[in-house]
Amino acid sequence: MKVESIKAPKTSTDKASADKAPTDSGTLHKKMMQLLSSLWVTHAIGTFARLGLADAVDGGADTAAAIAAPRGLVVDRVYRLLRALSTCGIVTESAGGRFALTPLGRLLTSDSPHSMRTSASLLTDYHADIWGNLDGALKGGVAFETLNGQPLFAWLAAHPQEGARFQRMMVEVHSPETPAIVAAYDFSRFKTIVDVGGGHGMLLSAILAAYPNVRGTLFDLQEGVDAARRGAGGPLPGVTFAAGDVFESVPAGADAYLFRHLLHDYDDDDCLRMLANVRRAMKPDSHVLVLEKTVPTDDTPGPGRWLDLHVMLLTGGRERTAPEYETLFAKAGLRLNRVLPTAHPAVEIIEAVAADARQS
Ligand SMILES: C[S@@+](CC[C@H](N)C(=O)[O-])C[C@H]1O[C@@H](n2cnc3c(N)ncnc32)[C@H](O)[C@@H]1O
Repeated sequence: MKVESIKAPKTSTDKASADKAPTDSGTLHKKMMQLLSSLWVTHAIGTFARLGLADAVDGGADTAAAIAAPRGLVVDRVYRLLRALSTCGIVTESAGGRFALTPLGRLLTSDSPHSMRTSASLLTDYHADIWGNLDGALKGGVAFETLNGQPLFAWLAAHPQEGARFQRMMVEVHSPETPAIVAAYDFSRFKTIVDVGGGHGMLLSAILAAYPNVRGTLFDLQEGVDAARRGAGGPLPGVTFAAGDVFESVPAGADAYLFRHLLHDYDDDDCLRMLANVRRAMKPDSHVLVLEKTVPTDDTPGPGRWLDLHVMLLTGGRERTAPEYETLFAKAGLRLNRVLPTAHPAVEIIEAVAADARQS
């Protein structure tokens, strides 16, 4: 197995900065208050986005009164929300209580080409509620299921509007990764690709735009396929849409099977069932590409350790280290071939082949 991720070696500077970490009680208290109140910031941003207040400012309403009145909100309270948001770079306040969106704040509008409005809204909705269940989740179980009585994907299927909202969030969150994946890997080596749990279809759309000779199949649960058919992730010329459950079977005989941010939604036993199905469906020389970010096995910083807790609460899934992928693949009759970095910090290309395939 080749892990080609580039990791900065530990330097004496790392040690020096650890030594320089403040220890005086005033600084420690301030830092702790910042950590403990970070929920306030998240919720203020979520409300600003969800209620369309960012859209209102974008549309020219630049005072609390102009924003509050058409929405039946209390002017003084809207003013206080905007004033707080000006401290974290979402809006600016000029003399006379006039507000404007910053480039960062524009991401909370509906029309921004890189809009994160749905994500801001969802991450302060049921994606926030699950964190209130962390105490209980440490004893076992899945917080989302405790709160909603069903696993996430079954609940999304039963609530189609939520299913569509979830797919919009996936487009928003994973958009910046997509060009980085396409740039980091030569997909021209494949004639046929199945994107397993491809959802909205953005990844397949980008691969087909870059490699028009590749034929693609979008495989997902019905609501994922519906989103892709609506064009939620971009055009999908010539794509075959296949609605199904990866725990039952996947389309057979493709050259490559992609799994972007699907394995991290499931525990090891479930991943094993999925990968074993793919192993049965694939040809001797097919490739499996898992597009996730491995958790470092050392103390290198990165967002994976937090996303790991989030998926634990949301679906019972987990983020994995490269050795953990290697073990999982081996149990499914696959071999971890290499881990390729991409230019995006949240995704690598974890490539596996059949365990008995020739070395490549
Ligand atoms: C976290 S989303 C990732 C979507 C997309 N691959 C991306 O990178 O944005 C997981 C996707 O897997 C699909 N999925 C979950 N369980 C599945 C199953 N049992 N069979 C097929 N697809 C499934 C979901 O519908 C969803 O589209």
